[in-house]
Amino acid sequence: MPTLIVLGTQWGDEGKGKIIDYLAEQADYIVRYQGGNNAGHTLVYKNKLFVLHLIPSGIFYPKKCCLLANGVVIDPMSLKEEIIFLSKNKVLVKNRFFIGMQAHILLPYHKIIDNIFENNNDYKIGTTKKGIGPCYYDKVKRIGIRVIDYLEDNIFEDLITKNLIEKEFILKKNRINTKALKKEMIVNHKILSKFIKPFVTDVSIMIEKAIKKDKKILFEGAQGALLDLDFGTYPYVTSSNTIAGGVCTSVGIGPTKINNVLGVAKAYTTRVGEGPFTVELFDKIGEILRIKGEEYGATTKRPRRCGWFDVVVVRYSVRINNIKCLVLTKLDCMQGIDVIKICVAYRYKNNIYKEFPASRTVQKYAVPVYEEMPGFKDKLEGITNFEKLPINARRYIKRLIYLIGVPIKLISVGKKRKEIIKLDNIKWF
Ligand code: IMP
Repeated sequence: MPTLIVLGTQWGDEGKGKIIDYLAEQADYIVRYQGGNNAGHTLVYKNKLFVLHLIPSGIFYPKKCCLLANGVVIDPMSLKEEIIFLSKNKVLVKNRFFIGMQAHILLPYHKIIDNIFENNNDYKIGTTKKGIGPCYYDKVKRIGIRVIDYLEDNIFEDLITKNLIEKEFILKKNRINTKALKKEMIVNHKILSKFIKPFVTDVSIMIEKAIKKDKKILFEGAQGALLDLDFGTYPYVTSSNTIAGGVCTSVGIGPTKINNVLGVAKAYTTRVGEGPFTVELFDKIGEILRIKGEEYGATTKRPRRCGWFDVVVVRYSVRINNIKCLVLTKLDCMQGIDVIKICVAYRYKNNIYKEFPASRTVQKYAVPVYEEMPGFKDKLEGITNFEKLPINARRYIKRLIYLIGVPIKLISVGKKRKEIIKLDNIKWF
């Protein structure tokens, strides 16, 4: 059963875009299972930098089939823009890109409400302001509008009328003209529902058939495990299940259909938005990592907070996702740092935490327990063989493997597809 999940082990932005792009070459299907256009997968295609927010980056391979499964929230306007953008760049999506009919539709009022909460310091969590949380909120409140509902004119109008009444208080309080908003949504719906119709499918049936035919299926995560709604740094999380378990509920396949889980970890750590971040650096090194790693949000352009590698976080991710091996990315961005630190535990009051703590107090106030290692000075450009890496870079990787307890099988040392070191001739599917 050639099925593989690839997901981020930290707070997102681990460089999954490049890794998924690398693995997509070997896959037949690439399926996104959660999130929406809050994600930003950056990759280089034909020497041009592309950022995709919704459509899986596997779309750049002409023969692959790409899907957004039911657990994704879809902003039809944003989807249309992305499809047009791809077409302009000669990447055609017809007959090989599909969206799940039970995925939820993200509407302008979701974005408005996200912005209202983000502009209020009592509720701000540093979201991407794309409306993701409010859309999932409607889903859980059982008032959401699914793709299948969006395709039915009467149902759509009826549902938005009810939803606007439900949201009337907050919208009116913030001087939103709900009548004009409704009118705009109805006008857009006429165009957008027609536009998305050819892409709508039953994802569960499609994937079931593909599995029966022994097709290679890559499930791509967005965000990262520490942003998972249930296991992340709650409440500073996204509103979906980013972890491997999310694949089954989103796609409609049983857990025994998943063969392998690959985790992507950055050689250091970053996060965007508010929330605890034990290894955060406020000094020159944090700034160096931000500059070298171009650590600015792909969706919001916000500067990412940077810190040392956190073994507590990645070991936690390995456990909750049953990750069998890791890819380490952006090792090249650590070149030139004199002393590298690795966080091996947290200390809070007189306790040492080797497992990731659930308590928000501990997450907020714990301090890192570091190990130190000498850094590496030589550039990593052009290196494709592990043995050719500077000795201290090799030592760093070996130490991470030992501390995390799972092998690192790939190391990314640059943005381009070929800038990757294989530690093993692994069969991914
Ligand atoms: P939301 O997903 O927009 O609701 O934002 C919730 C949290 O997830 C915020 O801290 C965001 O910065 C973070 N987040 C959402 N998408 C991404 C991503 O693609 N990379 C990194 N962080 C993200």
